[in-house]
Amino acid sequence: MPTTSFVSLVLSLFLILVTVSSAKRYEPNWASLDTRPLPAWYDESKIGIFLHWGVFSVPSYISEWFWWEWKGTKSPRAVTFMLENYKPDFTYPDFAPDFKAEFYDPNRWADIFNASGAKYVVLVAKHHEGFTNWPSKYSWNWNAMDVGPNRDLVGDLANAIRKKTDIHFGIYHSLFEWFNPLYLQDAANKYTTQDFVKSKTMPELHELVTKYEPEVVWSDGDWMVNDTYWNSTNFLAWLFNDSPVKDTVVVNDRWGSNTNCKHGSFFNCHDKFVPGQLFKHKWENCMSIDQGSWGFRRDASLSSIYSMDELISLLVRTVSLGGNLLVNVGPTSYGEIAPIYEERLRQMGEWLNINGEAIYATKPWAFQNDTVNPDVWYTSKKTSNGTVVYAILLKWLKGNVLELGTPIVSRQSSITLLGYSGSPFTFTGQATHGVQINVPTISFYNMPCQWGWVFKLENLVNQ
Ligand SMILES: *[C@@H]1O[C@H](CO)[C@@H](O)[C@H](O)[C@H]1NC(C)=O
Ligand SMILES: *[C@@H]1O[C@H](CO)[C@@H](O)[C@H](O)[C@H]1NC(C)=O
Ligand SMILES: *[C@@H]1O[C@H](CO)[C@@H](O)[C@H](O)[C@H]1NC(C)=O
Ligand SMILES: *[C@@H]1O[C@H](CO)[C@@H](O)[C@H](O)[C@H]1NC(C)=O
Ligand SMILES: *[C@@H]1O[C@H](CO)[C@@H](O)[C@H](O)[C@H]1NC(C)=O
Repeated sequence: MPTTSFVSLVLSLFLILVTVSSAKRYEPNWASLDTRPLPAWYDESKIGIFLHWGVFSVPSYISEWFWWEWKGTKSPRAVTFMLENYKPDFTYPDFAPDFKAEFYDPNRWADIFNASGAKYVVLVAKHHEGFTNWPSKYSWNWNAMDVGPNRDLVGDLANAIRKKTDIHFGIYHSLFEWFNPLYLQDAANKYTTQDFVKSKTMPELHELVTKYEPEVVWSDGDWMVNDTYWNSTNFLAWLFNDSPVKDTVVVNDRWGSNTNCKHGSFFNCHDKFVPGQLFKHKWENCMSIDQGSWGFRRDASLSSIYSMDELISLLVRTVSLGGNLLVNVGPTSYGEIAPIYEERLRQMGEWLNINGEAIYATKPWAFQNDTVNPDVWYTSKKTSNGTVVYAILLKWLKGNVLELGTPIVSRQSSITLLGYSGSPFTFTGQATHGVQINVPTISFYNMPCQWGWVFKLENLVNQ
């Protein structure tokens, strides 16, 4: 080999090395962390499932905040319930042995979640009660291996989901714990000490990420004190630079009292957040099918449970506005997804089997909702043929003409209904805006679905 080409070989190797080693590293501050691009899978997924499961699933009364209602705010309904149903010296940890999860079959759960059409799952690994659903080295005797289920609830679900489906696995983790003495001591010290963070929160988060490689780290319980106390930016710099999920993980925005709706891969802002208009940052609407509780509660009434009509409507509005929908169900202490929640999830999947094209990997369109018909919301998707626009009708029409205010049509445009095999619909349109679509009377048996009908608009003038 001639010397010159040897030298150039060494030089190019050196350049490659420099390029690789200068791959972006994030610094432990928001200015740097906020420059990380959102991993594409998250925006494309649109739908996740949230699972609130823990010792609170045993009383399964009021909500997952039961312990706090009983011993924190001492609400009459919680105090009375305990007086009437339990011995006087009964403590909250006494519920843990009854958290048996004896019917827990993670493969069956994976089937349900896959059938729901959701693309990611966020399991509560630890809620504010501090009980860890995995065998944590940092949770002596207050974890699912040592007491209650006697198994690794987190690991078993992660394995089943990965083995059977393409669903991304994620975890929810509460930074603070209501009654942890170490936390209470830091709080009493006005957060000038960080003993709880150092010996519990941080080791636990590192353990969860290293052991289960979650692609969503959904943080909560941050609101009492700012991100400095929680050491959040240090954790996130590690997560994005050096963790086993550094390239694919996404995080929410609950990392301190000063971060909500400001920092994170996606924003939750407050629970059940739906912005009034298109939002500039990626966001997620976390909501619960039981509107009164995230954890399973035996006292839920049918009226508090979202109907399919309401659920599809919320999904459509959320996606139109650029959000993801995180649909919560609370499994029972015995390890079942109760039939009414399973039915909602499976029916959502049936709807998505027909209409998923208008949801997954879509982008908001120039208009989010229609100007004439208040029951129509839009999504869009770029294809090699231009942008396809989906007009999603949340209430079926009374007559045979669907009038839309925002699309502009030409003779090249085409309008079809997803899941309907009849010929494309005829239409008349105005030059500057608006179209009247002639929708034939469709027999019951030819209706593609029962909720949310998707009109696919191709070759619009205003794509
Ligand atoms: C998951 O759902 C998809 C879409 O409905 C389906 O094609 C696939 O067979 C399902 N996989 C399993 C393991 O059930
Ligand atoms: C915060 O994170 C840094 C970097 O990982 C670590 O050196 C430090 O000990 C952590 N502090 C606490 C209180 O956890
Ligand atoms: C966070 O709280 C600490 C202690 O109260 C304070 O010194 C610091 O300035 C706060 N940081 C922010 C970003 O508000
Ligand atoms: C479209 O949505 C916005 C925001 O929700 C609302 O203010 C407006 O009234 C809606 N338009 C119609 C026609 O419903
Ligand atoms: C693009 O549009 C043409 C004409 O409308 C159609 O024949 C073709 O199938 C379309 N291609 C794709 C990829 O949709």
